[in-house]
Amino acid sequence: MKKITIAIDGYSACGKSTLAKDLANKLGYIFIDSGAMYRSVALYCIQNKLIENNIPDKKKIIDALPSIRLSFKKIDDKNVLFLNGVNVESQIRSNEVASVVSLIAAISEVREKLVHEQQKMGLNGGIIMDGRDIGSVVFPNAELKLFVTASEEIRVKRRFAELQSKGIKSTLDDVRLNLSERDYLDTHRAISPLIQVDDAIVLDNSNLTREEQLEFVLSLI
Ligand code: DC
Repeated sequence: MKKITIAIDGYSACGKSTLAKDLANKLGYIFIDSGAMYRSVALYCIQNKLIENNIPDKKKIIDALPSIRLSFKKIDDKNVLFLNGVNVESQIRSNEVASVVSLIAAISEVREKLVHEQQKMGLNGGIIMDGRDIGSVVFPNAELKLFVTASEEIRVKRRFAELQSKGIKSTLDDVRLNLSERDYLDTHRAISPLIQVDDAIVLDNSNLTREEQLEFVLSLI
């Protein structure tokens, strides 16, 4: 059967990656979490002191881009992200990374590098990628585009529970603030902001279980 490309976009913490993972397992497709790639660049900038007082040093970051190598490796059936050969899967989920990643993702040179890498990964189809610009920029010809959304309260609760399960300390208010700041920056930046493209199917999963949303998308495929 022909393998298609599936683009999943939407606001922070509305379950895009969960859906993408479930679909990839069911269909035997490759799953790529593009947000993890932006988070890794943000982590590199933190580690190398390229952000001061929450202001990214754009010139230094652009100069450093050739030194940032990202690769995905399968570990225990999970696609784990490596930054310059180091497994950074847990570090990129920290509050520190979450608080600066949208600023880093607004730098056009960062986006050019990551979009290029993402498009290479999708050359043969059979890929499910989630992010903010997948249906609009990375894979504008994707056969299936989804715009996932959920109520703010549900998203806050889900992200809080996810952080707790990973042992990362946070409060509901901190999570709410981070999500709303990131959503604002991600939808208002000059380059490839998060938009709902005309040919995307909207999936509001506020009141759907994980299984129900998977069934719905499988029926679309
Ligand atoms: O999906 P996530 O919450 O892990 O993404 C982290 C940030 O990365 C998000 O706030 C904006 C940025 N991002 C982006 O600009 N474009 C993408 N395709 C994916 C993520």
